[in-house]
Amino acid sequence: MTQNNDAILSAIPSPCFVLEEELLARNLAIFDRVQKSAPIRVMLALKGFSLFHCFPQLRTTLKGASASSLWEARLAAEEFGPEVHVYSPAYRAEDVPGILPLASHMTFNSIGQWEQFRSQVLGSTPHKPSAGLRINPQYSPVKTPIYNPCQPSTRLGVSSTQMGLRLPAGIDGFLSHNLCESDSFALEKTLANIEELFDRFLPDLKWLNLGGGHLMTRSDYDVDHAIEVLNAFHSRHPHIQLLMEPGSAIAWETGFLMGTVLDLIPTDELTNVMLDVSFTAHMPDCLEMPYKPAIRGARAPEGDDTIYRMGGSSCLAGDFLGDYAFDKELAIGDRLIFEDMMHYTMVKTSMFNGVVHPSIGRLDKDGNFKLWREFSYEDYRSRLG
Ligand SMILES: Cc1ncc(COP(=O)(O)O)c(C=O)c1O
Repeated sequence: MTQNNDAILSAIPSPCFVLEEELLARNLAIFDRVQKSAPIRVMLALKGFSLFHCFPQLRTTLKGASASSLWEARLAAEEFGPEVHVYSPAYRAEDVPGILPLASHMTFNSIGQWEQFRSQVLGSTPHKPSAGLRINPQYSPVKTPIYNPCQPSTRLGVSSTQMGLRLPAGIDGFLSHNLCESDSFALEKTLANIEELFDRFLPDLKWLNLGGGHLMTRSDYDVDHAIEVLNAFHSRHPHIQLLMEPGSAIAWETGFLMGTVLDLIPTDELTNVMLDVSFTAHMPDCLEMPYKPAIRGARAPEGDDTIYRMGGSSCLAGDFLGDYAFDKELAIGDRLIFEDMMHYTMVKTSMFNGVVHPSIGRLDKDGNFKLWREFSYEDYRSRLG
């Protein structure tokens, strides 16, 4: 639904995250074309989009899912498959036995973690995942430090010098994730850096996972150029299976968060709009990144426009975003549509990356600990749909 349709919108409860099926199909068609024109397998990164109700639609095109934790790996195996690519910046020892039977590929962030779990991975029966290492290609076009995995002293990935001279025994592939909402020229530069810095390992690699950050579904992305770049890499290294695991690009502009105006509080400079949604609770990425989401029908204020500041329903003083103007004055009860809220926003308001939620307990004066609540995979899954 690309236009306002009041009757349709008023039938939806508020607040609500709403996926638009047709828009998701449009994005999938782009990845379908890429996979048909270049030797690459595309996976969904669950960390960016985990709305499992639409996985049957995604499975028509995508080859599997990538997971960053045991809980995401379970979701990938239960609801997606057949390929389950697992990479975690740091595995918890107690999660590894649960991940091994689920993972088709298991990637480690450091040589230390690989050495810690190598015998478990290589000795895993009856099923053994293909093992990989995350590398640091020492190039990222991302200027915002919170999204730049290649910043100096990064904790993400093994550098060429840390890798030594030979591929560690048992390692089949590399994962490079260094992009974020990036274009095909950044992909080209990434591959050039990998070839320059990691050339000594390439003859022995079985696969190379190019991570996420390929925003192929943004209207200005040069898909043909990306296809050329991938084909050119393949012609130089035909034995390497290319993979990628976008999150954002799959769910890019495929849905919205709808909220309702509960109150309007005018001040001398602007009008505070009190909403039934919250930036800190439901759209934390807006404050974290930070970015100002588009609101359907809103524009930047000019001249004598009433300036509206969107206020969340939490008590956090900074739970607001502005400034917006509308052609018609807002009223209590109006519905507002925050655009493009499907990727990251939804998973950030649940259990991001499927990271285990901290337990809750009490320590009494005698040093006795009482566990009140532990969280499970079912808690994670039930937050997503
Ligand atoms: C290892 C890895 N793969 C894939 C992704 C997905 O990236 P994007 O949603 O930007 O496509 C991320 C995002 O942080 C990541 O860290």
